[in-house]
Formats: sequence, C-alpha cells, structure tokens
Amino acid sequence: MNDTRTPLDLRDSDLIVMTGAGVSAESGIPTFRDGNGLWEQHRVEDVASPEGFASDPVLVWKFYSLRREAAKQCAPNAGHRAIAAIERRLGDRFLLATQNVDGLHRVAGSERVVELHGNLFTSRCDRGCSAPFADEQTYFAKSRGELPRCRCGGAIRPHIVWFGEMLFPEDLQRVEAFFDRAERHGRRLVYLAAGTSGVVWPAAGMVQRARAAGGDTVLVNLEAPANVHAFDRVALGKSGEVLPQLLGVEV
Ligand code: OAD
Repeated sequence: MNDTRTPLDLRDSDLIVMTGAGVSAESGIPTFRDGNGLWEQHRVEDVASPEGFASDPVLVWKFYSLRREAAKQCAPNAGHRAIAAIERRLGDRFLLATQNVDGLHRVAGSERVVELHGNLFTSRCDRGCSAPFADEQTYFAKSRGELPRCRCGGAIRPHIVWFGEMLFPEDLQRVEAFFDRAERHGRRLVYLAAGTSGVVWPAAGMVQRARAAGGDTVLVNLEAPANVHAFDRVALGKSGEVLPQLLGVEV
C-alpha cells in the first residue's frame, strides 16, 4: 500500500470511479459518519427506510425537502470537476458510480454516471407506476403539509434507495458490464474510490470486484477507512485537492 499523489497512468486504461459522501464534503454537504452526521437529529430508520415512510411520511418528506433545499445551495468542488474532466478525456473508457444522491457530479459535467443510491431531486410513485407528476408537488415544505399523491392513488416518494431496500438491478448491471468488458478484452483497469468509508455494501465490495478483474485499485480519502488494505495505492487528503493531482487534470 503506497501513499502517493503521483498522477495515474491512464493511457490504454479503463477507469471506473466510485465516490461517496466525502467527495461532496468540500461543497458543504455533511457526510454520514462524521460528528455532524446528517442523521444526527433523526434515527436512520425513521427517515430512510420503507417502514419509516409508511409510519410517518410527513416526517420523511420534511427531511428530504430540507435536504433538497440545502443541496440546492451547494456547488460542485474541484474533486467533482476533476472527475468530469477525466471523463471528457477518456469517453467510453470511463464510468462513474456514486453513492451520493446530491446530483453534484452531473452539475459538474459528468455524464456517464450511475447513481447507485438514487437522486435527491427525483421522486417516484411507490406503486411503481410511471404516471408523470409535477415535481413542485413533491416539495413537502412548499405544499402546506399535503402529501404528494400519484394520480394512480399511490404515494409519491423520494427516489432514494433506503435502508433495507435493494439497489436497482439495472444500475448494478451497468457497473458489472464495465468490469466485464475490461476483463473480456484484457484491458488494463483502474478502480478509483474517493470519499467513502467503505462500510456500505454493495458499493464497498466493488474494490474486490475490481481486483478480481485484475484492476489496479486506488483510494482517495481523508482518513484510512475500514477496507483500506484492499487498495494497492492510497492517497490520504481532501478529494478536492488530491483528485486533480492524481487524475492529472486542470480544474
Ligand atoms: P461516509 O460518511 O460513511 O464516509 C465518508 C468518508 O469520506 C469518510 O471516510 C471520511 O473520512 C471521508 N471524507 C470526509 N471529507 C472528505 C474529503 N474532503 N475528501 C475525501 N474524503 C473525505 O459516506 P459514504 O461512504 O458515502 O447510503 O456512505 C455510504 C452510504 O452510507 C451513503 O450513500 C448512505 C449511507 O448510509 C444511503 O443513503 C443508502
């Protein structure tokens, strides 16, 4: 395990980047497991589980409305911009998988993005129907306490993967297809994780998937997380400072 910020050699390589809450920390969005953790005032199961939504949907919508309002005030930082810049260079040899729901990667210009845990600014009918609805309706704080309802009678819920829920199979398939393609074509693969504590599955296990595909594994994080030994190379520091150096891009 080396600690170095020397730029990665990405010539003839496929690059998959996995990000977590730490990448948005410098944009002002609190991470989950630090002292100011987002869940501090609420038990996770009350605001981020299907059972919590069933028992108190008003609380859940208030919580997500506040998170939406807060995230809207935030802008991408140099880490997000570095990831978008390397995508422009690599094109289809690049994929970003993020656990973040704040949408900042897209704002920064990332296009090949898989949002594994959903998106804060998207809502959906909890019965799975695809009837359209006005998004303002889902801003609970603005709707005077009326819970957003779908025209089919279902409840509108945030498009977030809650605790106890499965990730969307099509999202996992997109990630798997990227690993698989590199493996089948014998291409050099680089797996770069940034700003994630490596404790939430299945995202945390992707470093092992990358190793199985013969990939070089690199971690950028403020501190050494639980799964640090799974990485070939570790650069400790703020992602907004380290990522531009490591990816060799101007931001
Ligand atoms: P965590 O809050 O668990 O971890 C964030 C990591 O980022 C920590 O290891 C910090 O040390 C590191 N960090 C903080 N600031 C940083 C900075 N400026 N630069 C680099 N690293 C920094 O967040 P995640 O790993 O994303 O799931 O958590 C994974 C999932 O747990 C979340 O997506 C969420 C939560 O339960 C769902 O909501 C489904």
